[in-house]
Amino acid sequence: MDVTEAVKKRKSIRGYRPDPVPKEVLQQILDLARRAPSAMNTQPWEFTVLTGDVLENVRRSNVELLNSGAPPNPEHVVMDWPRESIYRQRQVDLAKQLFQLMDIPREDKEKRAKWMERGFRYFDAPAVVIISVDRCLSESGPLIDIGAVIQTICLMALHFGLGTCIEDQGVTYPEVLRKYAHIPDSKRIIMAIAIGYPDWDFPANKVETEREPTKNLATWLGFN
Ligand SMILES: Cc1cc2nc3c(=O)[nH]c(=O)nc-3n(C[C@H](O)[C@H](O)[C@H](O)COP(=O)(O)O)c2cc1C
Repeated sequence: MDVTEAVKKRKSIRGYRPDPVPKEVLQQILDLARRAPSAMNTQPWEFTVLTGDVLENVRRSNVELLNSGAPPNPEHVVMDWPRESIYRQRQVDLAKQLFQLMDIPREDKEKRAKWMERGFRYFDAPAVVIISVDRCLSESGPLIDIGAVIQTICLMALHFGLGTCIEDQGVTYPEVLRKYAHIPDSKRIIMAIAIGYPDWDFPANKVETEREPTKNLATWLGFN
């Protein structure tokens, strides 16, 4: 798959087939993704790859904490979207589209809660990559590098017929990952990537997110 096709094809996958992803495939994806650029080639990323019983324990425990009302405890910098901003509007547009595809009426609290749970279960993906960085690095400094490696993982996954969903929901309760994935306190847990073979019949996978036209984003200077 060429780069243009991969960039166009990548989308967040929120429903997976149960087929396991071979370890060798995940290994190849990470081998390629570590070619991502980083500031001064510092390569701040660390990967913990979960499947099988370990992943099941993490899913179960995430959902238990969510349903018990445990306060979120993320270790990555949490974004805040001003209520009246275009950023908040885009978030609302995405949620509306997903709820429509999943047939979740706005007022149906139970269905909404079940949908939320899916995120905390990594959308039942057969594998998950957790990205962490050493705490000796600053909180926000490595995040640009982490973004580069995450996108590279998602693009390389396509090459192997896999889909992905980058997820901060999946790292809301780092204590769960410390317990079952043995990620030590010395590592800041930044992001999760659900990974697996897409179930193209799953309604949410039909989501078509929009993008702002380039003309509204780019300023061109010095051109004739
Ligand atoms: C940093 C980051 C965190 C995200 N967290 C979640 C998440 O917790 N749950 C989810 O369903 N999607 C999550 N996403 C996926 C975005 O919603 C998605 O990338 C965006 O809507 C654009 O859609 P696309 O990926 O299909 O192109 C996240 C994406 C990024 C980059």
